Amino acid sequence: MTRKIRDSNTLIGLDVGTTKICIVTGEKSDQGITITSARSFSSTGLRKGIVVDADAAAESIRRAVEEAVPSGDRALSVCVGIAGSHIKSFSSEGSANIKGKKVLPQDVEKAIDTASAAYVPLDREILHVLPTDFVLDGQGGIKDPVGLTGRRLEVKVTIVTGAIAAVQSLLRACEASGVAVSDIVLQPIASSEATVTQRERERGVALVDIGGGTTDIAVYQSGWLLRTAVLGIGGNHFTNDLSIGLEVSFPEAERIKKLFGSILCDERQEKRPIKVALANGHVKTISARDISDIIQPRAEETLELIRKELDEAKRLGANISRTVLTGGCSLLTGLEPYAGTLLGTPVRIGYPEVNVPDLSDRSGRHAARARSYDHPVEFSNPMYATGIGLVIYAAQAGESAAVLGNSTHLFQRIVTTMTGWFQNIIGRK
Ligand SMILES: Nc1ncnc2c1ncn2[C@@H]1O[C@H](COP(=O)(O)OP(=O)(O)OP(=O)(O)O)[C@@H](O)[C@H]1O
Ligand SMILES: [Mg+2]
Repeated sequence: MTRKIRDSNTLIGLDVGTTKICIVTGEKSDQGITITSARSFSSTGLRKGIVVDADAAAESIRRAVEEAVPSGDRALSVCVGIAGSHIKSFSSEGSANIKGKKVLPQDVEKAIDTASAAYVPLDREILHVLPTDFVLDGQGGIKDPVGLTGRRLEVKVTIVTGAIAAVQSLLRACEASGVAVSDIVLQPIASSEATVTQRERERGVALVDIGGGTTDIAVYQSGWLLRTAVLGIGGNHFTNDLSIGLEVSFPEAERIKKLFGSILCDERQEKRPIKVALANGHVKTISARDISDIIQPRAEETLELIRKELDEAKRLGANISRTVLTGGCSLLTGLEPYAGTLLGTPVRIGYPEVNVPDLSDRSGRHAARARSYDHPVEFSNPMYATGIGLVIYAAQAGESAAVLGNSTHLFQRIVTTMTGWFQNIIGRK
């Protein structure tokens, strides 16, 4: 079943996270996209972004949509994020014969198409086909080959795949909740859409989204996505450590972490008395130092794992000139400077963009946000980076997107939306 979905200007992003289901709505107009709402709801039936109880997951998605989306918009389809350690990516190549003429957009499409026909194991589903270089008659490093003359166009791509079982169970949970899915997007790609500037992508940047259960990484170089990774570690690990170390319940540990958690504490803060409720019902007084003593080693371990991924990206040719930290855990006090020290790059917190003025010229648009993040506007919270990015991605995917009745339509969707996506990238240069 394939039907047109963009009769309305409303776009909906559905981020099925480990700690929350987040629904973001946005309005597309001639002026660009404006995020109109971003709301979180409790999520059940999911672990680390993967559906483990289909009925419970469908029920929580249904409830979230009912509350967050006005009834008139519920027939619209949603763009859904996906993550999990089942996500894998590999390189492939494709080509098109140009016969000494000018390269047309159709030639680019054909080259990408042949690259997409690479062998993919039967238990995996292609989620994204992302060009990393164009080569014309042996000359590489071409961003936009359209209009150039040559005989043979080659394209190098990264193909991102997910386990069919995980992709299908996410799709089924959405369908069972009554929601139609227009697109499935890798979460770090979505988070990048909301927080990383085009200029940063050109210069080399690492997007690190530290959520509750996973840390999603995307590294860009020369404008292209070079590498993605999903690590099974996140803010819940910090909370677990506090829960065990302080002998408090998980919710109490979560409260303590958000209110008093800090990676490092100075002499003035370290003796500050903090009252906590013990699991046995008693109250005890601890110091800020007790909390940072528990949190700091976990932060060090997490950043060490991230650094290994960034080192791997550097081996592939990335020259990372900045790290953008986002996701709820990026709000942990002191994490930003500590990450700067341990990762060896300048770090900024990625507050998602809530007004995207012009999709075809986005260079530098996040710089303003980066400067003003002391006063983020209402929805510009790092925990909404994925959800907001999904709305921006959906707007860019264009009018050609179609509802995915089942995952066999995924490949068809990639081919049909690839051109729009590619033209958008080129348009941004
Ligand atoms: N102010 C804060 N200080 C410290 N940690 C915070 C703060 N706000 C949120 N967090 C933490 O951020 C984590 C949730 O982040 P987020 O909402 O991005 O995760 P998620 O999308 O549900 O999970 P995932 O992306 O792993 O599937 C939790 O561990 C939460 O404790
Ligand atoms: Mg998340």
